[in-house]
Amino acid sequence: MANKDVLVVDDDVLVCESLKEMFILEGFSVDAVLDGQAALAKIKDNHYQVVLSDIQMPGLNGIELLKELKGRSPDTTVIFITGHGHIAGAVEAIKLGAYDYIVKPIDDLRLKLTISHALEQKNLQASYESLKKRIKPWNLDETLVFGDRKMDQLLGLVHTIADTMATVLITGESGTGKSMLAHYIHKHSHRREGPFVKISCGSLSETLLESELFGHVRGSFTGAIRDKKGKFEEANGGTIFLDDINSASPNLQIKFLRVLQEKVIEPVGGNVPIQTDVRIITATNASLQDEVANQNFREDLYYRINVVSFTIPPLRDRLSDIEPLVNHFINQFNRIHHREIKAISKSALQICLQYPWPGNVRELENVIERAVILSPGEFIVPESLPANIREIPPATSGEIFQHLTLEEAMERTEKQIILETLESLSWNRQLSARTLGVSRTTLFNKMRRLQLVDPRRSAPESLTESTPS
Ligand SMILES: Nc1ncnc2c1ncn2[C@@H]1O[C@H](COP(=O)(O)OP(=O)(O)OP(=O)(O)O)[C@@H](O)[C@H]1O
Ligand SMILES: [Mg+2]
Repeated sequence: MANKDVLVVDDDVLVCESLKEMFILEGFSVDAVLDGQAALAKIKDNHYQVVLSDIQMPGLNGIELLKELKGRSPDTTVIFITGHGHIAGAVEAIKLGAYDYIVKPIDDLRLKLTISHALEQKNLQASYESLKKRIKPWNLDETLVFGDRKMDQLLGLVHTIADTMATVLITGESGTGKSMLAHYIHKHSHRREGPFVKISCGSLSETLLESELFGHVRGSFTGAIRDKKGKFEEANGGTIFLDDINSASPNLQIKFLRVLQEKVIEPVGGNVPIQTDVRIITATNASLQDEVANQNFREDLYYRINVVSFTIPPLRDRLSDIEPLVNHFINQFNRIHHREIKAISKSALQICLQYPWPGNVRELENVIERAVILSPGEFIVPESLPANIREIPPATSGEIFQHLTLEEAMERTEKQIILETLESLSWNRQLSARTLGVSRTTLFNKMRRLQLVDPRRSAPESLTESTPS
Protein backbone atom coordinates (compact mmCIF):
# COMPACT_ATOMS: atom_id res chain seq x y z
CA MET A 1 0.00 0.00 0.00
CA ALA A 2 1.65 3.24 -1.11
CA ASN A 3 0.95 6.47 0.75
CA LYS A 4 0.17 9.40 -1.50
CA ASP A 5 -1.08 12.91 -1.04
CA VAL A 6 -3.76 13.47 -3.66
CA LEU A 7 -5.96 11.50 -6.05
CA VAL A 8 -7.59 13.65 -8.73
CA VAL A 9 -10.79 12.24 -10.27
CA ASP A 10 -12.30 14.09 -13.22
CA ASP A 11 -13.71 12.91 -16.54
CA ASP A 12 -12.24 15.99 -18.22
CA VAL A 13 -8.75 14.98 -19.36
CA LEU A 14 -7.51 18.55 -19.43
CA VAL A 15 -8.62 19.31 -15.89
CA CYS A 16 -7.12 16.05 -14.73
CA GLU A 17 -3.74 16.63 -16.34
CA SER A 18 -3.38 20.26 -15.37
CA LEU A 19 -4.29 19.58 -11.74
CA LYS A 20 -1.87 16.70 -11.64
CA GLU A 21 0.92 18.87 -13.04
CA MET A 22 0.20 21.63 -10.54
CA PHE A 23 0.28 19.24 -7.58
CA ILE A 24 3.55 17.72 -8.74
CA LEU A 25 5.09 21.17 -9.02
CA GLU A 26 3.95 21.87 -5.49
CA GLY A 27 5.77 18.78 -4.33
CA PHE A 28 2.76 16.52 -3.72
CA SER A 29 2.65 12.88 -4.72
CA VAL A 30 -0.40 12.60 -6.93
CA ASP A 31 -2.37 10.26 -9.18
CA ALA A 32 -5.13 11.24 -11.58
CA VAL A 33 -7.93 9.11 -13.05
CA LEU A 34 -10.89 9.78 -15.31
CA ASP A 35 -13.78 8.13 -13.45
CA GLY A 36 -15.09 6.79 -10.17
CA GLN A 37 -14.43 3.13 -10.95
CA ALA A 38 -10.79 3.87 -11.77
CA ALA A 39 -10.58 5.83 -8.52
CA LEU A 40 -11.77 2.79 -6.55
CA ALA A 41 -9.18 0.65 -8.31
CA LYS A 42 -6.47 3.11 -7.25
CA ILE A 43 -7.68 3.12 -3.67
CA LYS A 44 -7.15 -0.62 -3.50
CA ASP A 45 -3.40 -0.17 -3.83
CA ASN A 46 -2.81 3.32 -2.45
CA HIS A 47 -3.75 5.36 0.55
CA TYR A 48 -4.52 8.99 -0.28
CA GLN A 49 -4.65 11.91 2.13
CA VAL A 50 -7.06 13.75 -0.13
CA VAL A 51 -9.35 12.75 -2.98
CA LEU A 52 -10.24 15.68 -5.18
CA SER A 53 -13.17 14.62 -7.32
CA ASP A 54 -15.66 15.95 -9.84
CA ILE A 55 -19.31 15.31 -8.89
CA GLN A 56 -20.86 14.75 -12.31
CA MET A 57 -19.15 11.80 -13.92
CA PRO A 58 -20.40 8.95 -16.08
CA GLY A 59 -20.59 5.58 -14.31
CA LEU A 60 -19.90 5.94 -10.62
CA ASN A 61 -20.47 9.63 -9.80
CA GLY A 62 -18.74 11.71 -7.13
CA ILE A 63 -21.37 11.14 -4.43
CA GLU A 64 -21.32 7.39 -4.94
CA LEU A 65 -17.54 7.49 -4.84
CA LEU A 66 -17.69 9.41 -1.55
CA LYS A 67 -19.92 6.74 -0.04
CA GLU A 68 -17.59 3.98 -1.17
CA LEU A 69 -14.63 5.87 0.25
CA LYS A 70 -16.29 6.22 3.65
CA GLY A 71 -16.23 2.45 3.86
CA ARG A 72 -12.89 1.68 2.29
CA SER A 73 -10.67 4.55 3.33
CA PRO A 74 -12.45 6.43 6.11
CA ASP A 75 -9.59 8.78 6.95
CA THR A 76 -9.23 10.10 3.40
CA THR A 77 -10.47 13.67 3.03
CA VAL A 78 -12.80 14.22 0.07
CA ILE A 79 -13.06 17.57 -1.69
CA PHE A 80 -15.37 18.07 -4.64
CA ILE A 81 -15.02 20.08 -7.78
CA THR A 82 -18.36 21.22 -9.11
CA GLY A 83 -19.80 23.30 -11.92
CA HIS A 84 -21.78 26.49 -11.13
CA GLY A 85 -25.09 24.81 -11.82
CA HIS A 86 -24.58 22.00 -9.35
CA ILE A 87 -23.85 23.66 -6.04
CA ALA A 88 -26.88 22.01 -4.45
CA GLY A 89 -25.26 18.64 -5.13
CA ALA A 90 -22.05 19.83 -3.49
CA VAL A 91 -23.91 20.94 -0.38
CA GLU A 92 -25.51 17.51 -0.18
CA ALA A 93 -22.04 16.00 -0.50
CA ILE A 94 -20.85 17.98 2.50
CA LYS A 95 -23.75 16.65 4.51
CA LEU A 96 -22.57 13.18 3.55
CA GLY A 97 -19.12 13.92 4.90
CA ALA A 98 -17.14 15.64 2.14
CA TYR A 99 -14.73 18.21 3.53
CA ASP A 100 -15.39 21.06 1.10
CA TYR A 101 -16.11 21.90 -2.51
CA ILE A 102 -14.47 24.07 -5.14
CA VAL A 103 -16.45 25.69 -7.93
CA LYS A 104 -15.21 25.56 -11.53
CA PRO A 105 -13.32 27.31 -13.09
CA ILE A 106 -10.77 26.29 -10.50
CA ASP A 107 -8.84 29.04 -8.75
CA ASP A 108 -5.43 27.43 -8.10
CA LEU A 109 -4.72 29.51 -5.02
CA ARG A 110 -8.07 28.73 -3.43
CA LEU A 111 -7.63 25.05 -4.24
CA LYS A 112 -4.18 24.93 -2.66
CA LEU A 113 -5.45 26.71 0.45
CA THR A 114 -8.35 24.30 0.77
CA ILE A 115 -6.03 21.32 0.43
CA SER A 116 -3.54 22.72 2.95
CA HIS A 117 -6.33 23.38 5.45
CA ALA A 118 -7.71 19.90 4.94
CA LEU A 119 -4.32 18.37 5.58
CA GLU A 120 -3.79 20.52 8.67
CA GLN A 121 -7.15 19.61 10.07
CA LYS A 122 -6.51 15.90 9.98
CA ASN A 123 -5.77 14.93 13.50
CA LEU A 124 -2.20 14.94 14.70
CA GLN A 125 -2.07 11.26 15.43
CA ALA A 126 -3.15 10.32 11.92
CA SER A 127 -0.53 12.46 10.26
CA TYR A 128 2.09 11.20 12.68
CA GLU A 129 1.16 7.63 11.78
CA SER A 130 1.27 8.31 8.08
CA LEU A 131 4.54 10.16 8.42
CA LYS A 132 5.97 7.24 10.31
CA LYS A 133 4.89 4.94 7.51
CA ARG A 134 6.41 7.19 4.89
CA ILE A 135 9.77 7.42 6.57
CA LYS A 136 12.05 4.73 5.23
CA PRO A 137 13.52 2.63 8.02
CA TRP A 138 16.99 3.90 7.27
CA ASN A 139 15.84 7.35 8.27
CA LEU A 140 15.18 5.86 11.66
CA ASP A 141 18.43 3.97 11.78
CA GLU A 142 21.07 4.84 9.26
CA THR A 143 23.78 2.52 10.43
CA LEU A 144 25.57 1.02 7.49
CA VAL A 145 26.02 -2.57 8.56
CA PHE A 146 28.57 -4.98 7.15
CA GLY A 147 30.71 -7.96 8.07
CA ASP A 148 32.26 -8.88 4.75
CA ARG A 149 35.82 -8.03 3.90
CA LYS A 150 34.73 -6.67 0.49
CA MET A 151 32.56 -4.05 2.17
CA ASP A 152 35.24 -3.30 4.72
CA GLN A 153 37.71 -2.56 1.94
CA LEU A 154 35.17 -0.51 0.02
CA LEU A 155 34.36 1.61 3.06
CA GLY A 156 38.05 2.11 3.68
CA LEU A 157 38.30 3.75 0.28
CA VAL A 158 35.08 5.66 0.86
CA HIS A 159 36.58 7.23 3.98
CA THR A 160 39.60 8.50 2.09
CA ILE A 161 37.48 10.51 -0.36
CA ALA A 162 34.40 11.31 1.75
CA ASP A 163 35.66 14.66 2.94
CA THR A 164 36.68 16.01 -0.46
CA MET A 165 34.75 17.72 -3.24
CA ALA A 166 35.32 14.73 -5.54
CA THR A 167 32.33 13.80 -7.64
CA VAL A 168 31.38 10.21 -6.87
CA LEU A 169 29.69 7.60 -9.03
CA ILE A 170 28.11 4.63 -7.22
CA THR A 171 27.13 1.56 -9.19
CA GLY A 172 25.56 -1.69 -8.11
CA GLU A 173 22.45 -3.80 -8.57
CA SER A 174 19.14 -2.51 -7.26
CA GLY A 175 18.86 -2.68 -3.48
CA THR A 176 22.59 -3.06 -2.78
CA GLY A 177 22.70 0.16 -0.75
CA LYS A 178 23.73 2.83 -3.26
CA SER A 179 21.44 5.51 -1.86
CA MET A 180 22.55 4.63 1.62
CA LEU A 181 26.21 4.90 0.66
CA ALA A 182 25.60 8.29 -0.97
CA HIS A 183 24.14 9.57 2.29
CA TYR A 184 26.98 7.97 4.24
CA ILE A 185 29.53 9.88 2.15
CA HIS A 186 27.69 13.12 2.80
CA LYS A 187 27.57 12.39 6.53
CA HIS A 188 31.33 11.80 6.56
CA SER A 189 32.20 15.06 4.84
CA HIS A 190 32.52 18.53 6.33
CA ARG A 191 29.25 19.28 4.51
CA ARG A 192 27.37 17.02 6.91
CA GLU A 193 25.55 19.97 8.49
CA GLY A 194 24.49 21.17 5.04
CA PRO A 195 21.56 19.74 3.08
CA PHE A 196 21.55 16.31 1.43
CA VAL A 197 19.18 16.52 -1.49
CA LYS A 198 18.17 13.45 -3.41
CA ILE A 199 16.43 13.21 -6.76
CA SER A 200 15.92 10.39 -9.21
CA CYS A 201 16.61 11.28 -12.84
CA GLY A 202 14.04 8.72 -13.93
CA SER A 203 11.17 9.92 -11.78
CA LEU A 204 9.57 12.75 -13.73
CA SER A 205 8.95 13.91 -17.29
CA GLU A 206 11.88 15.79 -18.77
CA THR A 207 10.32 19.25 -18.38
CA LEU A 208 9.25 18.69 -14.80
CA LEU A 209 12.59 17.19 -13.88
CA GLU A 210 14.42 20.14 -15.34
CA SER A 211 12.36 22.54 -13.29
CA GLU A 212 12.76 20.34 -10.19
CA LEU A 213 16.51 20.37 -10.58
CA PHE A 214 17.20 23.89 -11.70
CA GLY A 215 14.06 25.73 -10.58
CA HIS A 216 11.94 27.97 -12.75
CA VAL A 217 10.88 31.56 -12.91
CA ARG A 218 7.24 32.49 -12.68
CA GLY A 219 5.33 32.26 -15.96
CA SER A 220 7.99 30.26 -17.79
CA PHE A 221 5.39 27.58 -18.60
CA THR A 222 1.74 26.81 -17.85
CA GLY A 223 1.43 26.06 -14.18
CA ALA A 224 4.57 27.95 -13.16
CA ILE A 225 2.60 30.27 -10.91
CA ARG A 226 5.54 31.50 -8.90
CA ASP A 227 9.32 31.34 -8.83
CA LYS A 228 10.52 27.98 -7.64
CA LYS A 229 13.90 27.03 -6.26
CA GLY A 230 15.45 23.96 -7.80
CA LYS A 231 17.11 21.06 -6.01
CA PHE A 232 20.59 22.32 -6.93
CA GLU A 233 19.89 25.60 -5.19
CA GLU A 234 18.34 23.76 -2.25
CA ALA A 235 21.51 21.67 -1.97
CA ASN A 236 23.78 24.70 -1.79
CA GLY A 237 26.51 24.12 0.77
CA GLY A 238 25.65 20.42 0.87
CA THR A 239 25.42 17.42 -1.41
CA ILE A 240 23.08 16.58 -4.26
CA PHE A 241 22.48 12.92 -5.01
CA LEU A 242 21.42 12.29 -8.60
CA ASP A 243 20.02 8.77 -8.60
CA ASP A 244 19.45 6.74 -11.78
CA ILE A 245 21.76 9.11 -13.66
CA ASN A 246 21.60 6.77 -16.67
CA SER A 247 17.99 7.94 -17.24
CA ALA A 248 18.96 11.59 -17.73
CA SER A 249 17.82 12.91 -21.12
CA PRO A 250 20.43 14.29 -23.58
CA ASN A 251 19.30 17.79 -22.74
CA LEU A 252 19.72 17.25 -19.01
CA GLN A 253 23.10 15.68 -19.58
CA ILE A 254 24.27 18.91 -21.18
CA LYS A 255 22.96 20.86 -18.20
CA PHE A 256 24.75 18.57 -15.75
CA LEU A 257 27.94 19.02 -17.69
CA ARG A 258 27.58 22.76 -17.35
CA VAL A 259 27.06 22.49 -13.58
CA LEU A 260 30.11 20.29 -13.27
CA GLN A 261 32.33 22.47 -15.43
CA GLU A 262 31.21 25.95 -14.52
CA LYS A 263 29.47 25.44 -11.18
CA VAL A 264 26.46 27.44 -12.33
CA ILE A 265 22.81 26.59 -12.85
CA GLU A 266 20.16 28.32 -14.95
CA PRO A 267 16.53 28.18 -13.82
CA VAL A 268 13.99 27.35 -16.53
CA GLY A 269 12.86 30.58 -18.17
CA GLY A 270 15.53 32.62 -16.39
CA ASN A 271 18.57 34.17 -17.93
CA VAL A 272 20.73 34.89 -14.91
CA PRO A 273 22.98 31.95 -14.06
CA ILE A 274 23.21 31.16 -10.35
CA GLN A 275 26.51 30.17 -8.74
CA THR A 276 26.34 26.90 -6.80
CA ASP A 277 28.48 25.19 -4.21
CA VAL A 278 27.31 21.61 -4.36
CA ARG A 279 29.01 18.25 -4.09
CA ILE A 280 27.61 15.84 -6.64
CA ILE A 281 27.11 12.13 -6.07
CA THR A 282 25.46 10.01 -8.76
CA ALA A 283 24.25 6.43 -8.85
CA THR A 284 23.10 3.95 -11.44
CA ASN A 285 22.23 0.28 -11.63
CA ALA A 286 22.80 0.20 -15.39
CA SER A 287 26.29 0.09 -16.84
CA LEU A 288 27.20 3.62 -17.86
CA GLN A 289 30.01 2.29 -20.04
CA ASP A 290 27.42 0.40 -22.08
CA GLU A 291 25.24 3.49 -22.24
CA VAL A 292 28.22 5.45 -23.52
CA ALA A 293 29.01 2.74 -26.07
CA ASN A 294 25.37 2.82 -27.24
CA GLN A 295 25.54 6.61 -27.43
CA ASN A 296 22.81 7.05 -24.85
CA PHE A 297 25.14 8.77 -22.45
CA ARG A 298 27.64 11.54 -23.19
CA GLU A 299 31.20 10.38 -22.88
CA ASP A 300 32.42 13.76 -21.59
CA LEU A 301 29.80 13.70 -18.84
CA TYR A 302 30.71 10.12 -17.99
CA TYR A 303 34.32 11.12 -17.34
CA ARG A 304 33.21 14.12 -15.29
CA ILE A 305 31.00 12.12 -12.96
CA ASN A 306 33.31 9.13 -12.82
CA VAL A 307 36.10 10.89 -10.93
CA VAL A 308 35.80 8.42 -8.09
CA SER A 309 33.59 5.37 -8.43
CA PHE A 310 32.47 2.58 -6.16
CA THR A 311 30.74 -0.62 -7.13
CA ILE A 312 28.74 -2.24 -4.36
CA PRO A 313 28.83 -6.01 -4.86
CA PRO A 314 25.52 -7.90 -4.90
CA LEU A 315 24.57 -9.43 -1.56
CA ARG A 316 25.11 -12.99 -2.85
CA ASP A 317 28.81 -12.10 -3.25
CA ARG A 318 29.24 -10.88 0.31
CA LEU A 319 27.84 -13.68 2.41
CA SER A 320 29.50 -12.52 5.61
CA ASP A 321 27.25 -9.45 5.50
CA ILE A 322 24.10 -11.53 5.79
CA GLU A 323 24.20 -12.43 9.47
CA PRO A 324 25.04 -8.93 10.76
CA LEU A 325 22.38 -7.47 8.45
CA VAL A 326 19.78 -9.95 9.66
CA ASN A 327 20.57 -9.08 13.29
CA HIS A 328 20.45 -5.37 12.51
CA PHE A 329 17.07 -5.68 10.80
CA ILE A 330 15.70 -7.80 13.65
CA ASN A 331 16.59 -5.03 16.11
CA GLN A 332 15.25 -2.35 13.83
CA PHE A 333 11.91 -4.04 13.19
CA ASN A 334 11.53 -5.11 16.81
CA ARG A 335 11.55 -1.42 17.63
CA ILE A 336 9.26 -0.37 14.78
CA HIS A 337 6.70 -3.13 15.25
CA HIS A 338 7.01 -3.50 19.04
CA ARG A 339 8.14 -7.10 18.81
CA GLU A 340 10.70 -9.00 20.86
CA ILE A 341 12.30 -11.44 18.44
CA LYS A 342 15.59 -12.59 19.96
CA ALA A 343 17.46 -14.00 16.97
CA ILE A 344 17.34 -16.02 13.80
CA SER A 345 17.61 -19.80 14.15
CA LYS A 346 20.59 -21.57 12.61
CA SER A 347 18.44 -23.36 10.05
CA ALA A 348 16.73 -20.13 8.98
CA LEU A 349 20.10 -18.40 8.70
CA GLN A 350 21.37 -21.27 6.60
CA ILE A 351 18.47 -20.71 4.20
CA CYS A 352 19.32 -17.01 4.00
CA LEU A 353 22.92 -17.88 3.20
CA GLN A 354 21.89 -20.14 0.34
CA TYR A 355 19.29 -17.91 -1.29
CA PRO A 356 20.72 -15.68 -4.07
CA TRP A 357 18.89 -12.45 -3.05
CA PRO A 358 18.17 -10.94 -6.49
CA GLY A 359 16.69 -7.89 -4.72
CA ASN A 360 19.79 -7.64 -2.52
CA VAL A 361 19.70 -5.92 0.89
CA ARG A 362 16.28 -4.40 0.21
CA GLU A 363 14.84 -7.88 -0.30
CA LEU A 364 16.55 -9.19 2.84
CA GLU A 365 15.22 -6.22 4.77
CA ASN A 366 11.66 -6.92 3.60
CA VAL A 367 11.94 -10.63 4.36
CA ILE A 368 13.19 -9.96 7.88
CA GLU A 369 10.52 -7.34 8.50
CA ARG A 370 7.87 -9.85 7.49
CA ALA A 371 9.48 -12.54 9.65
CA VAL A 372 9.68 -10.25 12.68
CA ILE A 373 5.98 -9.52 12.33
CA LEU A 374 4.88 -13.09 11.62
CA SER A 375 7.10 -15.23 13.86
CA PRO A 376 4.96 -16.53 16.70
CA GLY A 377 7.87 -17.33 19.01
CA GLU A 378 11.06 -15.57 19.96
CA PHE A 379 13.09 -16.83 17.00
CA ILE A 380 12.91 -16.48 13.27
CA VAL A 381 12.57 -20.05 12.04
CA PRO A 382 12.47 -21.38 8.46
CA GLU A 383 8.65 -21.22 8.53
CA SER A 384 8.85 -17.46 9.12
CA LEU A 385 10.53 -17.06 5.72
CA PRO A 386 8.56 -16.83 2.45
CA ALA A 387 8.16 -20.10 0.55
CA ASN A 388 10.25 -19.06 -2.46
CA ILE A 389 13.25 -18.51 -0.21
CA ARG A 390 12.79 -21.78 1.68
CA GLU A 391 12.90 -23.88 -1.49
CA ILE A 392 16.30 -25.45 -0.95
CA PRO A 393 17.40 -28.50 -2.97
CA PRO A 394 15.32 -31.61 -2.26
CA ALA A 395 16.45 -33.83 0.61
CA THR A 396 18.26 -37.06 -0.09
CA SER A 397 15.73 -39.66 -1.16
CA GLY A 398 15.16 -43.02 0.52
CA GLU A 399 16.42 -45.25 -2.28
CA ILE A 400 19.95 -43.90 -2.05
CA PHE A 401 20.28 -45.58 1.35
CA GLN A 402 18.89 -48.94 0.21
CA HIS A 403 22.02 -51.07 0.49
CA LEU A 404 23.80 -49.16 3.20
CA THR A 405 24.31 -49.86 6.86
CA LEU A 406 22.96 -47.24 9.25
CA GLU A 407 26.45 -45.95 9.85
CA GLU A 408 27.15 -45.61 6.13
CA ALA A 409 23.79 -43.92 5.51
CA MET A 410 24.42 -41.43 8.30
CA GLU A 411 27.89 -40.71 7.06
CA ARG A 412 26.61 -40.08 3.56
CA THR A 413 23.93 -37.68 4.84
CA GLU A 414 26.45 -35.88 6.99
CA LYS A 415 28.78 -35.52 4.04
CA GLN A 416 25.97 -34.19 1.86
CA ILE A 417 24.95 -31.56 4.42
CA ILE A 418 28.51 -30.41 5.05
CA LEU A 419 29.27 -30.32 1.33
CA GLU A 420 26.17 -28.24 0.54
CA THR A 421 27.01 -25.82 3.31
CA LEU A 422 30.61 -25.46 2.22
CA GLU A 423 29.62 -24.96 -1.39
CA SER A 424 26.97 -22.41 -0.58
CA LEU A 425 29.53 -20.45 1.43
CA SER A 426 32.32 -20.59 -1.14
CA TRP A 427 34.21 -23.07 1.07
CA ASN A 428 34.60 -20.52 3.83
CA ARG A 429 35.22 -22.88 6.80
CA GLN A 430 34.81 -20.28 9.50
CA LEU A 431 31.36 -19.37 8.23
CA SER A 432 30.39 -22.96 7.46
CA ALA A 433 31.34 -24.07 10.95
CA ARG A 434 29.27 -21.29 12.46
CA THR A 435 26.31 -22.10 10.22
CA LEU A 436 26.47 -25.81 11.05
CA GLY A 437 26.79 -25.04 14.73
CA VAL A 438 30.12 -26.86 15.20
CA SER A 439 33.59 -25.60 16.04
CA ARG A 440 36.12 -25.06 13.29
CA THR A 441 38.15 -27.97 14.58
CA THR A 442 35.17 -30.31 14.42
CA LEU A 443 34.41 -29.20 10.89
CA PHE A 444 38.05 -29.62 9.90
CA ASN A 445 38.15 -33.15 11.31
CA LYS A 446 34.91 -34.10 9.64
CA MET A 447 36.15 -32.74 6.32
CA ARG A 448 39.27 -34.87 6.66
CA ARG A 449 37.30 -37.97 7.63
CA LEU A 450 34.75 -37.52 4.85
CA GLN A 451 37.42 -36.50 2.35
CA LEU A 452 35.78 -33.22 1.55
CA VAL A 453 38.23 -31.07 -0.36
CA ASP A 454 37.83 -27.57 -1.70
CA PRO A 455 37.98 -28.23 -5.47
CA ARG A 456 39.81 -24.94 -6.01
CA ARG A 457 42.74 -26.05 -3.91
CA SER A 458 45.09 -28.98 -4.54
CA ALA A 459 43.78 -31.92 -2.57
CA PRO A 460 46.38 -33.01 -0.03
CA GLU A 461 47.63 -29.55 0.92
CA SER A 462 44.24 -28.13 1.61
CA LEU A 463 43.74 -30.50 4.47
CA THR A 464 47.16 -30.24 6.00
CA GLU A 465 48.26 -26.65 5.55
CA SER A 466 46.05 -24.85 8.05
CA THR A 467 46.03 -25.60 11.71
CA PRO A 468 42.53 -25.70 13.06
CA SER A 469 41.86 -23.18 15.84
N1 LIG B 1 24.85 -1.97 4.56
C1 LIG B 1 23.57 -1.75 4.91
N2 LIG B 1 23.23 -1.69 6.20
C2 LIG B 1 21.95 -1.48 6.57
N3 LIG B 1 20.95 -1.32 5.71
C3 LIG B 1 21.22 -1.38 4.40
C4 LIG B 1 22.55 -1.59 3.92
N4 LIG B 1 22.54 -1.59 2.58
C5 LIG B 1 21.26 -1.40 2.22
N5 LIG B 1 20.45 -1.26 3.29
C6 LIG B 1 19.01 -1.06 3.29
O1 LIG B 1 18.50 -1.70 2.15
C7 LIG B 1 17.55 -0.91 1.47
C8 LIG B 1 18.02 -0.64 0.06
O2 LIG B 1 19.14 0.23 0.08
P1 LIG B 1 19.26 1.46 -0.94
O3 LIG B 1 17.95 2.12 -1.14
O4 LIG B 1 20.38 2.31 -0.48
O5 LIG B 1 19.65 0.62 -2.24
P2 LIG B 1 19.92 1.16 -3.72
O6 LIG B 1 21.08 0.43 -4.23
O7 LIG B 1 19.97 2.64 -3.69
O8 LIG B 1 18.62 0.65 -4.47
P3 LIG B 1 17.99 1.20 -5.87
O9 LIG B 1 18.92 0.76 -6.97
O10 LIG B 1 16.68 0.50 -5.96
O11 LIG B 1 17.92 2.68 -5.75
C9 LIG B 1 17.41 0.36 2.30
O12 LIG B 1 16.27 0.25 3.12
C10 LIG B 1 18.66 0.40 3.14
O13 LIG B 1 18.41 0.96 4.37
MG1 LIG C 1 18.71 4.04 -4.54
